[in-house]
Amino acid sequence: MAEEIKNIDYEQGLPGAIDLHDSVKRENSLSEGGEGKVGITVMVIGALILILGGGHLFSSSNGFRSGIYISDNYTPEPRPSLGGDEEAGEQVAWIESWMSDGKKVYNNCIACHQASGLGIPGQFPPLIGSEWVDGGTSRLGAIMLHGISGPFKVGGQTYNQLMPAWNNLSDDKIAQVLTYVRREFGSLSEGNDGVVTVEMIKDAREKYSGHSGPYTEAGLLEIPVDESLSGSKVDLETGEALGGS
Ligand code: HEC
Repeated sequence: MAEEIKNIDYEQGLPGAIDLHDSVKRENSLSEGGEGKVGITVMVIGALILILGGGHLFSSSNGFRSGIYISDNYTPEPRPSLGGDEEAGEQVAWIESWMSDGKKVYNNCIACHQASGLGIPGQFPPLIGSEWVDGGTSRLGAIMLHGISGPFKVGGQTYNQLMPAWNNLSDDKIAQVLTYVRREFGSLSEGNDGVVTVEMIKDAREKYSGHSGPYTEAGLLEIPVDESLSGSKVDLETGEALGGS
């Protein structure tokens, strides 16, 4: 006999499974966050914020143009000059800056040889008219690296003090100050630009590395008067080495 299909729950007076699911679905749909409807007031307030905020941004942004902080009658100051009378924008030749650096290094020498290069009679020899400055660069390199102890004759006058050694200055600085001394105070022979380069100072350091203590006059006289340190000539505009030497 076919068994009668009965709703057992019903028979027991309990709610059926379908009823249970229905109620669970209903409750969940009410409480699920973020899916409820937005109230009309919230929408109106939101719209107002967008309209007012956007309007304010638009009216005070000045069209998002660059330069909004520069007022209409502003004209920029011209670029300050670096001094001297060089034309604006003109490139300074290498030799000019090499000489002006040399002049700064020469500040080490003015206490004795004076800014004028004339020295102090009887105490410190002049660099102007000095046969030591006008000759080749080898003697000058030796003098700078080791100094001199007197008695020492310059232009027929005898000086008897101590010329300090400057070997703790960089190669650049020694080259710069010797260039300055030769071009400013020397009387150079024709075709001699008086430039002393870093390469020449490196040569001097090597050549006279065997010497210790200050030179005497006799020691310096052993170096031929017109012997020069080796190193290629340079382009006075660019400071770059020229081919050959
Ligand atoms: C403390 C003083 C003193 C200072 C600083 C000094 N010298 Fe001299 N220099 C002398 C004296 C003094 C002699 C002469 C030799 C001697 O009596 O010892 C001399 C000699 C020379 C000579 C060879 C002689 C001549 O008159 O041409 C040269 C070149 C020279 N100095 C360059 C320099 C340079 C460049 C500097 C700076 C980097 C310098 N001196 C700084 C005192 C000084």
